[in-house]
Amino acid sequence: MAARAAAARLGGFGTSIFTEITALAVKHGAANLGQGFPDFAAPAFIKEAAARHIDEDRNQYAPSAGVPRLRAALAAGWQRRYGQVVDPGSEVTVACGATELLLDAMLGLVDPGDEVIVFEPTYDAYVPDIQMAGGVARPVALRLPGWRWDSAELAAAFTPRTRAVIINTPHNPTGKVFSVAELEELARLCIAHDVTVISDEVYSELIFDGARHVPIATLPGMRERTITIDSMGKTFSVTGWKVGWAIAPPPLTDAVRATHQFVTFTNSAPFQEALADALTAPFTRSETDNYYHQLRAAYGARRAQLTAILESIGLPPLPMAGAYFLLSDVSRLGFASDLDFCRFLTAEVGVAAIPISPFYSSAAQASSPARAPMLARFCFAKREETIVLAGERLRKWRNFRSPLPSAEEG
Ligand SMILES: Cc1ncc(COP(=O)(O)O)c(C=O)c1O
Repeated sequence: MAARAAAARLGGFGTSIFTEITALAVKHGAANLGQGFPDFAAPAFIKEAAARHIDEDRNQYAPSAGVPRLRAALAAGWQRRYGQVVDPGSEVTVACGATELLLDAMLGLVDPGDEVIVFEPTYDAYVPDIQMAGGVARPVALRLPGWRWDSAELAAAFTPRTRAVIINTPHNPTGKVFSVAELEELARLCIAHDVTVISDEVYSELIFDGARHVPIATLPGMRERTITIDSMGKTFSVTGWKVGWAIAPPPLTDAVRATHQFVTFTNSAPFQEALADALTAPFTRSETDNYYHQLRAAYGARRAQLTAILESIGLPPLPMAGAYFLLSDVSRLGFASDLDFCRFLTAEVGVAAIPISPFYSSAAQASSPARAPMLARFCFAKREETIVLAGERLRKWRNFRSPLPSAEEG
């Protein structure tokens, strides 16, 4: 008899959609607008800093909570951006990307049977993290137009078992930037029910059209109940470096650190040092004409380029204000599911995109299209050539098909 391989706790995880589509993209040489990573070079200043720190032999274990000068720079950055004083000694923890900190937070907070509210569509790691901690995910739908929650539904999701809420703003995959009014509504419920918030803000610097990123921790009464998680991956175009951080009051920081010390203990010292250099460099500290402005300008141009392509093939993207994804409605193209469409697009057209149904629990996918609409996600964190190549292939494909039915027809 074969040995039992995996714990029951892992039941139903399967292979992530990103792994499947990336493998298919490689196999078919597709222009990869699927997985969310930049395919362009990282800024020279940060690569030079990392190389220098390796060369200077900062190659041994960093302190478990993170390199002190990095924690100091993160605390100073938070204060500069949001006016809140954070103690780098007891309120900042550095770990192996936001991914690890999400799990650390969950393992540190959740007891078996505790409930954790997530918003659907949901970034793919949240529900497995909750499950690994023995908790139960309580999905609350974000619905079009505007990806709004229903206030009654949200209020009803809070029960005596609710331990935490995970919010992600700017939001993957929708690009929604939650408004202050929405965050205040959520904050009122969390305070009333004494619930902790885990706020995933890895796209905090990628904001468009004058939208404002507001960390929920900055609202009255929320600092003491929020773990804010961010990462250098998106901001400095180095998703493979895996340096993330959590900012939280001492009791919540203790919970995160207690698990972090036994999950990875620490992550790469030279990359932490390089991030500290980047955060303290003059061009990231000045308020105008700095690195972040240039980053947003470059992303704005890529977004315009991909929007024009999607519009030209009859798949205009939905409005978005943050992160680096565009969503197009693919429900009228004759495919049985968004997954079928994305597999076809990757293998036959040579353009990889991600279906959004895997961002929903299976119950929601089955229940109604209003809850899990049929959308494909296109990532625009790509070189101009990649987007141009994708455009050529998409336009060629659309020319070979009969025109889309008009709005009146369906
Ligand atoms: C919403 C969200 N959270 C977390 C992560 C993971 O961040 P990291 O690469 O720092 O682990 C991602 C990566 O795509 C993401 O989109």
